[in-house]
Formats: sequence, structure tokens, C-alpha cells
Amino acid sequence: MRPDDVDAAERLTALAYGVERTEAARRRWSGRTGHLLTTDPGGCWVADGDGAVVGVAVALRRDLLWVLSEYAVHPDHQRRGIGAALLDAAVGYGAGCLRGLLTSRPDPQALRRYRRAGFTLHPTMRLSGVVDRSALPAVDGVRGGTAADLDLVESVDRRVRGATHRPDHAFVLASSRLLVCDLLTGSGYVFLADWGVERLAATNRAVAQRLLWAALAATTPGSPVDVRNLTSDQEWAVDVGFAAGLRLDHDAYLALRHLRPPAPYVPSTAFG
Ligand SMILES: CC(C)(COP(=O)(O)OP(=O)(O)OC[C@H]1O[C@@H](n2cnc3c(N)ncnc32)[C@H](O)[C@@H]1OP(=O)(O)O)[C@@H](O)C(=O)NCCC(=O)NCCS
Repeated sequence: MRPDDVDAAERLTALAYGVERTEAARRRWSGRTGHLLTTDPGGCWVADGDGAVVGVAVALRRDLLWVLSEYAVHPDHQRRGIGAALLDAAVGYGAGCLRGLLTSRPDPQALRRYRRAGFTLHPTMRLSGVVDRSALPAVDGVRGGTAADLDLVESVDRRVRGATHRPDHAFVLASSRLLVCDLLTGSGYVFLADWGVERLAATNRAVAQRLLWAALAATTPGSPVDVRNLTSDQEWAVDVGFAAGLRLDHDAYLALRHLRPPAPYVPSTAFG
């Protein structure tokens, strides 16, 4: 992939995923992919069909963890082997990585490809809705974080998922708020975007629940929030969501290779 392929890849993924992106969402997608093209040029691939982009795969490597961030083939070009070739290229970028992780859409062809590539598929749940503010408990021990807290973020990430998100901190901080909790009993963090929880990790469930409550309290009253990619390992989150008046639905899948679902952890859809 080259920088001038990014906008075509954005259009292609919207079509293949069947989503309508707002102008802001388009810019977010392109900004994120442009960022990953800088950090992981060897993981970003397009399939070229007569000069047009007909497929895309974007993968990243963080420490010894490989993550797939985007994967799509234009609907008019599917079932011709392009998807398999793109996934091979993206997986090849992870050579030497011990573990693999991706959040999959509920697309039967994609799930088939992921399983064939050796991933274990874990069904996920999604909490969504407007927070019942009368249910919010008083939470102490959680405060706003800054760049000075990124060492804490990295140490929690290493413990919970075996790899940091180091090259992505500045990008993620630009579009979300960091909350941290650092107690004698445990520590953790959450990145909160305007649509909901971008990512949350903690060294124990009690700290994770504090952070999730604090994040829900910090959302704009009356506006919907989303907490996604929850495997059954994240019951601590389901319990907070129910208490906060959110609804639970089936989401999609977390696909993992040589890795048990990290917990307590809410994975980022794009960064794992
Ligand atoms: C998932 C996706 C990228 C797969 O792309 P694709 O190009 O259709 O995949 P392929 O053609 O490589 O594989 C589809 C099947 O067609 C077969 N096939 C058909 N004709 C073929 C040909 N001429 N040459 C090679 N393989 C062919 C492949 O062998 C494969 O079958 P298999 O599963 O038994 O191996 C595509 O379906 C897609 O964009 N889905 C929607 C977007 C989405 O949800 N993406 C996942 C995001 S997490």
C-alpha cells in the first residue's frame, strides 16, 4: 500500500463492510490507516486490479504480537483467491511473532479465512445504550491521565496482553481521553472516545470495574456509548453494563492465535 491508496482503501472497506461512514468517520479511517502505513509499511497491502484498488489488508506488529486491523475485497472481485493472497501477505508480516489477534466482523468468508489461518474464534458481546446516571456509584482512585502515565499503560498492557501499543499512543491520545487507576492492589487504564470505550486493561477485575464505571460516568449524559469485543472472559464488564442500564447484544468474534483471551481487557477494534 502507498499513501495515495489510502482513500481508495477507505471507500473499498466501507463497501465491503456494508457501512456508511460520515465525513468524520472517513477522516478517522484514513488517518488511522495513514498512521499504520507509517508504523508498519510492511503490513499494509492492497490488491491492484487494472490500476484500481480491489482489496486491502492492514496488519501491525507490536512487540511479539501480530494484529490484523483491516481486511476486505471489493464485492465484485470476491471468491477469486484475492482475499487468501492478501491474508497470506499480512500474516507473512507477522513472521517471528508468537501470538496473533484480530477483531472480526461476522462475515462468513472472513471467518473461514481466519480459521484456515489457524486462529481460534471466540464469540463476542457488545454493551450499548445510554448510561442510567442514577445508577452511577461514587468511584475513587481513578484520575485523568497524561503522557506521563504511558509507562503505566505499557506495563499493564505487557501484563494483560503480553505486548504494548507503544507506537500508537500519540495517535490514540489525539482522539480519546485517558483515565488511569494506580492503587496498591492493582492498576489499569481506559481510553474513552466520543462513541465509547476504545480500550481498557487492568491487572485485576476490581480495578477494571472501577475504570469502566469512571469511563461511563465521563461520557456525555444522554448520548449513546458502546463497549465492544467482550468475550465471556469479560463478565466483570457485562455486570457493570447491566447495572448501568446498558443492553447486551451479540457483537462478532475475537480471533486469537497462540493466545488466550486477555482479561480483564476490552480490546481495541483497530489496534487489538
Ligand atoms: C473476507 C474477504 C476479504 C475474503 O476475500 P475473497 O477474495 O472473497 O476470498 P478468496 O477468494 O481468497 O476466498 C474465498 C473462497 O473462494 C475460493 N475461490 C473461488 N475461486 C477461486 C479462484 N479462482 N482462485 C482461488 N480461489 C478461489 C477460495 O479457494 C476460497 O475458498 P476456501 O475458503 O474453500 O479456501 C471478503 O469476503 C470480504 O471482503 N468480506 C467482506 C468484508 C469483511 O467483512 N471483512 C472482514 C473484516 S474483519
